[in-house]
Amino acid sequence: MDSINTDHSDLQERLLSHTARFYDKSFDWDAFPSNSGFEELERAQMRYIGAGGSPKVNDASTMQPDHFTFSLIYKEPGRYAACHSHEIEESFLVISGALVVGWEQEGEVVEVTLGAKDMILNAREIGHGFRVDGVEPVLMSISVDVGKPLPPVYHYHPKQHPSELARQFGAQPGKTLAFDRKGTHPLQQLMGQFVVRHHELPVIWEAAGFTRKIYVGDAPGAIHHDTCRKEMWGLPAGVTLKPFTRTAEEAVMCLEGSVEVVWLDDEGRESSVELGPRDLVKTPAGQPHYLRNNSAAAATIWTIIGTTGEDGAVYAKA
Ligand SMILES: [Fe+2]
Repeated sequence: MDSINTDHSDLQERLLSHTARFYDKSFDWDAFPSNSGFEELERAQMRYIGAGGSPKVNDASTMQPDHFTFSLIYKEPGRYAACHSHEIEESFLVISGALVVGWEQEGEVVEVTLGAKDMILNAREIGHGFRVDGVEPVLMSISVDVGKPLPPVYHYHPKQHPSELARQFGAQPGKTLAFDRKGTHPLQQLMGQFVVRHHELPVIWEAAGFTRKIYVGDAPGAIHHDTCRKEMWGLPAGVTLKPFTRTAEEAVMCLEGSVEVVWLDDEGRESSVELGPRDLVKTPAGQPHYLRNNSAAAATIWTIIGTTGEDGAVYAKA
């Protein structure tokens, strides 16, 4: 680890305070008070940046949010989340398992099943819920595109509605439609604009020697949206980028393989951390940094950037 210069402990300390390790964190089974007493709604949350939809905004093990929150959600087969809406956008990226997401309007529901690396961005004020119908649990990442979201508004919570109706996200019998981008129902057409399948997104090969799939941003196949950019990066073994700086914060979570995040101070001195799966670094706006894959295997990285506008980053091979 020749990149770590222990003489520059300020930089190293700052970087470490922006690094979250999966093994240091724990899942909270009591993050959502509205679920308590309802076994069918059980889920666990691991907070990385901000509290997401949980009221636990003073969790000291969590980084402060700027433009987005970041957490992992774990949900077991048979459980669901009751249909609710927010004043802001919220995205679900499936990490493992299969997740059913339903959008509801006036007793009709469109359901989509997302696989690993698929994402949905839940539009503002749209009633949405999710459910695990498969045989394996779902691990997903949830990002809310605002630092401190308001509590959700429930539309079909089992507290007020029959359990079977709540499990169907409010769909009356026979009123559940399958996801279909070419479907004629307005809700199918709307959802079609907010679902991203990993295998459908074009692969962008950067001249710097790595790949991007743009989930949210101004790119073909992406969700066009005005708050945050979301991208999946592939870093082949041996790739090192030149330092770059963004005008907004960036969070990178390693999903597969390992990757180093390197920060630089004003004098060009460096500190680095190596991330493994589910470890995350949040790099604040204005912090020069770069990524390096010094391993023998490719790395897959989920990247969230706190703006969709021009952010000043230029990618080049070191
Ligand atoms: Fe939500």
